[in-house]
Amino acid sequence: MCSDQPPARIGPETERLVHRAFTIADAAAFLTLNGNPAVMRFTGEPLISSLDEAREAIAAYPDFDVVGFGRWACVLKRTQRVIGFCGLKYLPDLDAVDVGYRFLPEYWGQGLATEACNASLRYGFETLGLDEVIALVLPANGASIRVLEKVGMRMQGETMYDGQRTLRFAKQAAGLESEAAGE
Ligand SMILES: CC(C)(COP(=O)(O)OP(=O)(O)OC[C@H]1O[C@@H](n2cnc3c(N)ncnc32)[C@H](O)[C@@H]1OP(=O)(O)O)[C@@H](O)C(=O)NCCC(=O)NCCS
Repeated sequence: MCSDQPPARIGPETERLVHRAFTIADAAAFLTLNGNPAVMRFTGEPLISSLDEAREAIAAYPDFDVVGFGRWACVLKRTQRVIGFCGLKYLPDLDAVDVGYRFLPEYWGQGLATEACNASLRYGFETLGLDEVIALVLPANGASIRVLEKVGMRMQGETMYDGQRTLRFAKQAAGLESEAAGE
């Protein structure tokens, strides 16, 4: 998959968040996020354990150049701190675009993931013209499942992904008009 838009290193702005691609200057924030066992518990990804690893992961992130979109750093407008990430990712194995998010624990429970996820979905449908966005979540990740429900994604069933049994959620662009009309 390849978007016909220029690489979207600057993402949507919401009431509390700016979305933009990570840069090497964010390595410490990237390590704080992806080196936190509570954050990584349900992601199926290994912990990052050093600044060098964080720098390498940011430098090697291919999505914006290869497919034109990706996961953005979420910057809290009030403090300018990078407090998480949210964005879209093309999954070649499933030929689908997935929305994903991750925030520092001290910011959980304030609706920030819901705010960011809604902005990513809107970006996917309105700017990229996607027909569908999916999300894969481990069954034990109650907070993430709740976020997906709040943004109007529906559970479609189970999918094996990266060797793990995940729940597959989806939202279709076609449903947006009736949603806006309150149907
Ligand atoms: C999942 C995550 C992004 C949610 O972020 P957040 O900013 O706290 O999300 P929100 O505040 O928008 O919404 C969280 C909702 O989950 C609910 N919730 C929290 N813990 C829960 C749990 N264990 N079971 C069920 N619901 C839970 C909250 O009450 C809230 O719902 P409500 O608004 O109806 O009260 C955050 O917990 C996180 O970063 N987790 C680690 C990374 C991760 O797992 N990412 C997702 C991978 S699929």
